[in-house]
Amino acid sequence: MKHLIDIMELTTEEIDEMIETATRIIESPEEYSERCRGKKLATLFFEPSTRTRLSFEAAMYELGGNVLGFSEAQSSSAAKGESVADTVRTVGAYADIIAMRHPKEGAPLVAAARSTVPVINAGDGGHNHPTQTLTDLLTIWREKGRLHDLTIGFCGDLKFGRTVHSLIGAMSRYENVKFILISPEELRIPEYLKKEVLDRKNMEYTETTDLEGAMADLDILYMTRVQRERFFNEQDYIRLKDSYILTPDKLKNAGEELSILHPLPRVNEISVAVDDDPRAKYFEQVLNGKFIRMALILKLLEVK
Ligand code: NCD
Repeated sequence: MKHLIDIMELTTEEIDEMIETATRIIESPEEYSERCRGKKLATLFFEPSTRTRLSFEAAMYELGGNVLGFSEAQSSSAAKGESVADTVRTVGAYADIIAMRHPKEGAPLVAAARSTVPVINAGDGGHNHPTQTLTDLLTIWREKGRLHDLTIGFCGDLKFGRTVHSLIGAMSRYENVKFILISPEELRIPEYLKKEVLDRKNMEYTETTDLEGAMADLDILYMTRVQRERFFNEQDYIRLKDSYILTPDKLKNAGEELSILHPLPRVNEISVAVDDDPRAKYFEQVLNGKFIRMALILKLLEVK
């Protein structure tokens, strides 16, 4: 049985295949509208979510399947002290596939070990978020027509931002990809990622605090919010939250072909005035999230 806990579990061929399926779904959705008839997806969300949970649900509905689940820990037996392992064993009796988000790093991995049905990590603490990465890869593919030969700027909270961690891992497997890591000193990417991904693969990368200085070199700018819920104290959050605010003015050195991505939710880090810029692709990214999750569900359920 296959789960998706970490994006690195997928081969590049499997990623290509899912991008291909998603592209076919976009072109002829009606061909897919009955593929999961009779199947159920459970969304177990122990942490807040708008896009991830609803896109999983929309994906399953558009495949002709059904969904059940909960959207906060307080409304599940977790509030009574049930373990995630027991929760997934229970849910496996009702559903064919599970998407789980949890504030604890590693919780979906523990769940998968005890599950009788495929488990998808829909975000675990400040660790990983593989389905957002699939969304990002589909978006980059659709915008650029390639996943190689790209300079990607990551900006914001690179320490706690799980979408950044997973996307860095995924992009490290393509040829001639360079990273510019833009963050306050205190929110740089974790050491383990430098060691296990960037150094191990001899990736070209720079760390800087200067967003505008990096702008002219970028093919992709991946903005992120400062992850308030992962901070140990509110003072630090308040001090760092507005470190970067992308405005039309800050884009004046950017190339015409830049694509601006953001996993969303946005707080302050992209001014709404940027939304009208043709380079802003974060709402296209939202839509891509549904299509790639459809492709993932088909893959894990082994539906032809
Ligand atoms: C992200 C997440 O949950 O990690 N959101 C998402 O799934 N699109 C990003 C964030 O919360 O900042």
